[in-house]
Amino acid sequence: MSTLEFLTQRVSFPKVEAPGPTTEQLVKLFAAAGRAPDHMQLKPWRFMVIQGEAREAFGKLMVAAKEATSEIDDTKRDRLYNNAFRAPTIIIAVTVFKTHEKVPEVEQILSTGAAVQNLLLAAETMGLGGMWRTGNIMFEPVMREGLGIAAHETIAGAIYLGTPAGKRKSIKALNLDSFVAYWRG
Ligand SMILES: Cc1cc2nc3c(=O)[nH]c(=O)nc-3n(C[C@H](O)[C@H](O)[C@H](O)COP(=O)(O)O)c2cc1C
Repeated sequence: MSTLEFLTQRVSFPKVEAPGPTTEQLVKLFAAAGRAPDHMQLKPWRFMVIQGEAREAFGKLMVAAKEATSEIDDTKRDRLYNNAFRAPTIIIAVTVFKTHEKVPEVEQILSTGAAVQNLLLAAETMGLGGMWRTGNIMFEPVMREGLGIAAHETIAGAIYLGTPAGKRKSIKALNLDSFVAYWRG
């Protein structure tokens, strides 16, 4: 498959299973993430890896973050907790805002997005699959505190990574006219 074909056929993998990325693969994934476009080379991002037993604490944290704002029954509590086990590896992507007169915060968030996309693409080249997820609870103060997110940081998402399970989803044909135009002045 050509690189262009690879890019135009990229998909997320909502269902993944063990094994997740090895330590060597994680190093390569972060090396790819670290090559995201980055105005003034601020490296306005960091990543946290949650895997193995740490997912138990993450599951509890998701429940606590939800319970901080709403009442939930046991079914919902179990579902939320089990979300932490949807993948063998979860990577929390965080934008770390840096102060720079030429680089507004929005550019730093965009750079984080590019880093995450690089990571997802790199994962796919290794036969892994991933899905970028957020959900309201990722922005709750309880979640921020539990993950150690500082005041000058924001969570860009949780990347659920593992070995693709089930069928790869088919892609709909794109209508480029719906989002591309030629500006002629
Ligand atoms: C910042 C961000 C947050 C997202 N959060 C969620 C989420 O919480 N739940 C979800 O189902 N999809 C979420 N998505 C979308 C999926 O990652 C995925 O792109 C979408 O399901 C479309 O699938 P595809 O990537 O295969 O086209 C998010 C995407 C982005 C960029």
